[in-house]
Amino acid sequence: MGQENRFQYDVAVVGLGRIGLPLALSFADRGLSVLGVDIDPARLEAVASGKLPFHEPGCEELLGRVRAAGQPQLSERVVDAAQARDIVITLGTPTFSHIEIDISQIRRALDDLMSYLQAGQLLVLRSTVAPGTTEFVAGYVHKRRGLLIDEELFVAHVPERIAAGRFLAEIDTLPCIVGGVGPASTRRAAALFSAFGAPIVETTPVQAELAKIWTNILRYTQFALPNLLMMDCERYGANVFEVIDLINRDYPRGGISNPGLTAGTCLRKDFAFSEERSNAPGMLLAVSRVHESVPLFLVEGIKRRIGSLSNRKVAVLGLAFKADTDDERDSLSHKLIRLLERELADVAVCDPLVATPTAPLAEAVRDAAAVVIATNHSCFRTAEALQTILTATAPGSLLVDPWNCFGQRCVFLPTASLAPLQPSR
Ligand SMILES: NC(=O)c1ccc[n+]([C@@H]2O[C@H](COP(=O)([O-])OP(=O)(O)OC[C@H]3O[C@@H](n4cnc5c(N)ncnc54)[C@H](O)[C@@H]3O)[C@@H](O)[C@H]2O)c1
Repeated sequence: MGQENRFQYDVAVVGLGRIGLPLALSFADRGLSVLGVDIDPARLEAVASGKLPFHEPGCEELLGRVRAAGQPQLSERVVDAAQARDIVITLGTPTFSHIEIDISQIRRALDDLMSYLQAGQLLVLRSTVAPGTTEFVAGYVHKRRGLLIDEELFVAHVPERIAAGRFLAEIDTLPCIVGGVGPASTRRAAALFSAFGAPIVETTPVQAELAKIWTNILRYTQFALPNLLMMDCERYGANVFEVIDLINRDYPRGGISNPGLTAGTCLRKDFAFSEERSNAPGMLLAVSRVHESVPLFLVEGIKRRIGSLSNRKVAVLGLAFKADTDDERDSLSHKLIRLLERELADVAVCDPLVATPTAPLAEAVRDAAAVVIATNHSCFRTAEALQTILTATAPGSLLVDPWNCFGQRCVFLPTASLAPLQPSR
């Protein structure tokens, strides 16, 4: 390890977003000297002042603890990452509308770093990437700099599979997949991530890439089935929750989950990383189309039951893409709101978790003709919330609860028929 003392930091984390920042703090908490890099000055200022720019349970306390030890050091210059022995890239990887990964953030960071990379360094892709991207990165650096991959420069993919809101619970327990472009790269990346003590599973880069995106494809596809069933049930006048119960009850071979608005920045795009070179083009696009049609299905369902929404108040509860997070990115709530506004409805929104200003629950639902539970936050799944909806909405109003938050087991239910809060299944 003698040569590694040449480096000023043990690890640099490039991109202090929802994935990078908790990771940088966790490395620092394990005693590594850490440089955090982000091009967003507002983000760096927030971190420097001890403020977590988003909600992730336990991370603000963790930030306070590592700051007291002078960690992490911060920079808005990507080149400074070259002062670290190990460089972990946690940049965004969106998709183009061309059904293709957009790796421009990674390309830009690599281009900035290129002249400064040194023999002995490890480059880890922690971002979610399309199959083949890690090999591309290794080849790109070799082509531009001539460094021998797996001998002078070590490159690996160590995908992030932790769910939002569970970072600190899972960083030291969830098996950590390590796919180096060669055995030495795998060893180096495994050594870095062994700081967390979770089981390390060694594999090839492409298998690591596939494992990550298919982890998300599996969830996206699984959630599409109850949503498609919900829409089928409407066609046949059936109750989706009763059908789900018939499917699942005491059946020993798996089951189907409840419907809901399924999206978010990962699920909505990671499937496209498979779709860009698919052997069955369109299959996963169809899964995506099912989810994307749920907001319109809900709007049409409301109109079928209570008529035109023009000049009528509709309350949307939840802006975040999933329960108990403040992350609104790629949430279908926004699409739902846009569609309701196109019906000339007066939309009121309540989400106490997100940064976007919204109304308190009682105000949002007051005199509403319909209330849509768009996000199944814990704060909505209470007897008090149900009581507020029951008492404050307009006569003849409709509750729309695809999540079965209130255990009423009905997607569209007149509030007059509401039963007391039932345990949801
Ligand atoms: N958010 C999740 O729950 C989650 C879960 C698993 C995997 N992932 C993957 O992790 C990656 C990061 O996701 P995220 O949600 O943390 O993204 P994010 O957008 O929250 O964070 C990216 C950060 O990188 C910064 N940045 C952009 N370009 C930069 C550059 N050239 N140099 C330095 N900093 C730069 C941005 O300012 C931002 O702070 C993505 O590939 C995503 O698919 C995310």
